[in-house]
Amino acid sequence: MDLKQALVAKSIVDKKKFYITTPIYYVNDVPHIGHSYTTIAADTLARYKRMRGYEVFFLTGTDEHGQKIEKAAKLNNESPIELADRMVDKFKNLWKVLNITNDDFVRTTESRHVKQVQNAFTKMYENGDIYLGEYEGWYCIPCESFWTSTQLSLNNCPECGRSVEKIREKNYFFRLSKYQDLLMTFFDKHPDFIKPESRRNELLRRIADGIDDISVSRAAVEWGIHVPMDSKHTIYVWVDALFNYITPLGLDDPAMLKKYWPANVHIIGKEILWFHGVIWPAMLMSLGVEVPSQIFAHGWWTLEGKKISKSLGNAIDPIEITETYGVDTYRYFLLREVPFGLDGNFSYEAMVNRINCDLGNDLGNLLHRTLTMIEKYCDGIVPGHEGLVSTEENELIERSKRLNDEVDHAMSNLQFSKALESIWDFIGLVNKYVEVSKPWVLARESSTKEKLNNVLYNLAESIRIISLFILPFMPNVAAEMHKQLGLSSDENSVGNNFTWGGIRPGAKVCKGTPVFPKFEYSTAD
Ligand code: MSP
Repeated sequence: MDLKQALVAKSIVDKKKFYITTPIYYVNDVPHIGHSYTTIAADTLARYKRMRGYEVFFLTGTDEHGQKIEKAAKLNNESPIELADRMVDKFKNLWKVLNITNDDFVRTTESRHVKQVQNAFTKMYENGDIYLGEYEGWYCIPCESFWTSTQLSLNNCPECGRSVEKIREKNYFFRLSKYQDLLMTFFDKHPDFIKPESRRNELLRRIADGIDDISVSRAAVEWGIHVPMDSKHTIYVWVDALFNYITPLGLDDPAMLKKYWPANVHIIGKEILWFHGVIWPAMLMSLGVEVPSQIFAHGWWTLEGKKISKSLGNAIDPIEITETYGVDTYRYFLLREVPFGLDGNFSYEAMVNRINCDLGNDLGNLLHRTLTMIEKYCDGIVPGHEGLVSTEENELIERSKRLNDEVDHAMSNLQFSKALESIWDFIGLVNKYVEVSKPWVLARESSTKEKLNNVLYNLAESIRIISLFILPFMPNVAAEMHKQLGLSSDENSVGNNFTWGGIRPGAKVCKGTPVFPKFEYSTAD
């Protein structure tokens, strides 16, 4: 191996890893906007980290066991696995349409997963953290959650407001109460473990109120993974589900665990924070496995002001939306419209506005008019830069440098909308630069040819930089921009430089149709 090969090999070995997950989705129903939101956010971060040279492992999957699925299958006159197979295809197809780059997909009915869950359950049983007891209380099937009488809200599930059923059965319990102090200490030492801060505080208050042991098996539920030491019971679906995060690695595979674990971030919706922020770390502590670095609980979308649900008949298929408005525009809208962590409202009017203004006017026009000018004034060839750097140019270069830091900081904190705000602030400056530099005036005199070339070079370079920053959010648009700028495919590949000066003079631009079509908003949407 020569020196260069050795260095490449070393850089591969030294690559920092980034393990990111989505929740695994229930297969009782088809995917909707809410599911696509979490997965798009995770994909955007995964793509961003890859661009920054990380070795990313991005996991998603489906949660296929439990009473909820059993019940939905019965209503449909099919077996649970038939239902699961049908729904898994829908999720996988949606992820393909949305350009999701997950590295693995765990189905909880796969034998590799069943093995991991039974292995973990056995270990926790053997170390005394799981014991047989008797459970009496309430159960919410849609949330697959146990509740005590005092937790109920007006006799209904405190989480979703639906009716609960009374259960009294012999169950296996997990000694969650034993971990109360350890969890508190862990939270103290890791202030960034739960994000956003407000959710962390809610969770801390709930833990401080005291935590009881939890039931981790069901005797009455057939559709699940059997308790290894007592096959009359199935393992509680939440315990089953949480272990999906370890399934591709394997609890007993120290090399894989060492390579990817702990996960850098589990992205979830706010309603499932208790399971991820309390039960999951406690079980990992019981197994002597490291706790993930961060859990980010995002907010919930409503649709035109209403909760999204099948019973309200408003759970639109995201594929339908993208067929009309496009995939990248949908990805952009979800991450731009609402700060990640807060609740938001999906409305067609707001989406059409964003597409027409931010995308069409600000970005699309900048690209189109720049390429038109390069065609008209420079025979379609990106000119070189010569001579002095003007004040406006300096401002552009300085801003692009700051943009790099701002985007990196925002993305490291999962502030997708903030990263996009910074990118659009830069786009605004570039648009202002066109107006101030007036290339159409410079083109009138041959004495200002050098200046004209510089301006067009700067515009092409700004667009190249913009296209790199938007790539994780809008991969197709970024690729199209690269193509139109005449960049070859390795010039737009990973790790491509974010620093000023990367555009290649001499490249032949290739203007296509406008990247963003205009939409009319009509109330019929
Ligand atoms: N199967 C469990 C998760 C187990 S993870 C170990 C589950 N599944 S789910 O199908 O109900 O998906 C819940 C997730 O979908 C939420 O946590 C959130 O990520 C996403 N969303 C579902 N509806 C949503 C909205 N209306 N708005 C935003 N996201 C929501 O819970």
